[in-house]
Amino acid sequence: MKTVSFIAKHGNSISVTSAGSGPTLMLLHGFPLDHRMWQSQLECLSQHYHVVAPDLRGFGQSTLAEQSYTMADLADDVEAVRQHIAPNQSISLCGLSMGGYVAFEYWKRYGPNLNALILANTKPESDSAAARAARYEMAEQAKRLGAWPAISGMLVKLISPYHLEHKPEIAQTAERILRDCSAEAVVQAQHAMAIRTDFSQHLQSIFTPTLVITGQHDPIAPPDATRLWADKLARGQFRMLASASHLTPLETPDEFNGQIRSFLAACR
Ligand code: MLT
Repeated sequence: MKTVSFIAKHGNSISVTSAGSGPTLMLLHGFPLDHRMWQSQLECLSQHYHVVAPDLRGFGQSTLAEQSYTMADLADDVEAVRQHIAPNQSISLCGLSMGGYVAFEYWKRYGPNLNALILANTKPESDSAAARAARYEMAEQAKRLGAWPAISGMLVKLISPYHLEHKPEIAQTAERILRDCSAEAVVQAQHAMAIRTDFSQHLQSIFTPTLVITGQHDPIAPPDATRLWADKLARGQFRMLASASHLTPLETPDEFNGQIRSFLAACR
């Protein structure tokens, strides 16, 4: 059974959806999504874990106070959620894409609270000048036209061509979530990602057991580049999920969940 609770932090109310019992596995969604992208993980992994899926500031049911934020602020929010939900426990933390950027920050600030890391469809490096400019452009477009016109073009990157054609329900689920995203959430998240810290020089110092996952067709975190940085982790493993693109937990949930279960079982 799923439960939803709200945690107050720095003027924001953070919505947290949880299911199951056992060791805590926290799931951090990507941009511009919310906890609903983890539906299969909340259902299936909760048979073995206390699965906790917060909505990051401004997304889903979480509020967005006026001030801008950074990835480090989001990592502080994650720690507030841990203290509320699993106060005396260390956790396993899984972040997808933007959620992965937050997971790197969490490792830097709260590493001793981590049992294991799962970094899905993400990357350690910060943006190139061109990527940063594209973020500011998307933010401006969201201000001018609203969120959906700014983000709708992302769908074809998030879902693989095979799944777009043969499993349209995946894109329909993703589109429902994207359409609920507000312009302000797009603006603040793009600004925060544009100034995120570069973790590519820290990979050798990450001694937390880490599983790195990406999709065979992910244009945002392509497999070859992802394998290269995963190999630099002190205790990293790399897995590529066939036929998926950027939203591996939604596109190939059985394979994604299976990888997490065997990785976490080996970590224990
Ligand atoms: C995401 O899925 O969270 C985004 O693609 C991350 C990004 O824009 O870098």
